[in-house]
Amino acid sequence: MGVRPRRSRECSKTRPGASKCDGHFLTAGLVAATFLVLLGVSLLHLPEPVALDPATAVREVTLLIWTHPFGRKRPLPDCLARYGVDGCVLTDEPRAYPHADGVLVHHRDVASGGAELPPEATRPPGQKWIWINYESPSHTPALWRLEELFNVTMSYRADSDVFLPYGYLVQKHGDGQPLSEPSRTSRPRLVAWVVSNWVESQARVAFYYHLSQYIQVDVFGRAGRSIPEGLGSVVRLVRRYHFYLALENSQHTDYITEKLWNAVLAGAVPVVLGPTRKNYERFLPPEAFIHVDDFPSVEALAGYLLALSRDPARLIGHLRWRTGFGLRQPTFWGEHYCTACKALRKTMGQTQVVRDLTQWFES
Ligand SMILES: *[C@@H]1O[C@H](CO)[C@@H](O)[C@H](O)[C@H]1NC(C)=O
Repeated sequence: MGVRPRRSRECSKTRPGASKCDGHFLTAGLVAATFLVLLGVSLLHLPEPVALDPATAVREVTLLIWTHPFGRKRPLPDCLARYGVDGCVLTDEPRAYPHADGVLVHHRDVASGGAELPPEATRPPGQKWIWINYESPSHTPALWRLEELFNVTMSYRADSDVFLPYGYLVQKHGDGQPLSEPSRTSRPRLVAWVVSNWVESQARVAFYYHLSQYIQVDVFGRAGRSIPEGLGSVVRLVRRYHFYLALENSQHTDYITEKLWNAVLAGAVPVVLGPTRKNYERFLPPEAFIHVDDFPSVEALAGYLLALSRDPARLIGHLRWRTGFGLRQPTFWGEHYCTACKALRKTMGQTQVVRDLTQWFES
């Protein structure tokens, strides 16, 4: 191949927020950055569009989906029809292994012993193994077992080789769901929280106990009331609230999940507990969320929420940014497969090695 081995992490370190280091990706990154500067929002983390040169790109690649995530079998998408991704053949047939250009391995399934890793002894030369994981480090066991095996990382972390977050903002008339215009109409209720996995030792549970000493917090989900009949989804429920508690189950770099994006879609102001404020600001404008660290105490935060709910003119300061934006929420897992496949096609013939997977992912 004659291509210098690339170290995933070193490539990404040189350009924080970007995941690739060759020219095409750089160009794509610049285009994305320019568009955001035009919007007056610079430095947001965005997945980079992969630009393929039809003259040099290999015609077609085969990506083997090694396990269906969490053992739940789903039909594989037609990447071209569904996501406009050309030249990708997806398969979940293990017998495709000897000729697959890439193998996508979902972390939890192999780490928990539910499935074996692909056989190393018969690994075809040139085949890339892609590590995919959307859990936080706190819920990513046995990483050490996977050192020195993979070529490509794919996760919500912006410095993954293939970066696809839980959600991201786009231009309003792009391919995202347009965000509703901010309105001064008051919403009937104050704060909602939807939680399915209640663990006493988690920071978010402590925060909830503390906050609910000062203001009414309506709890829904497996641990609280069920979502009222007729409202159906979290987003429709949250539309009735001024604020939504977007509390992550653990606090890690870039680990910002659909909890935040559901609130954004519903037009409620998210109150976030997760990575730092600075980290959130790489994903959305600073005024678009209230961070639990913004206040010296939970009592002060509660007071601020109450004050805002009584003063629509002030509240709108947290919503005005919505004009001009849309939201994209990639579909698990089909869109991830097609995105991985596109990246694979783009880097065919190049050697890539993931070093220090554990150290990187836990940092
Ligand atoms: C993939 O990674 C393995 C393990 O680090 C390495 O031996 C192999 O050369 C890499 N292959 C490609 C095509 O990058």
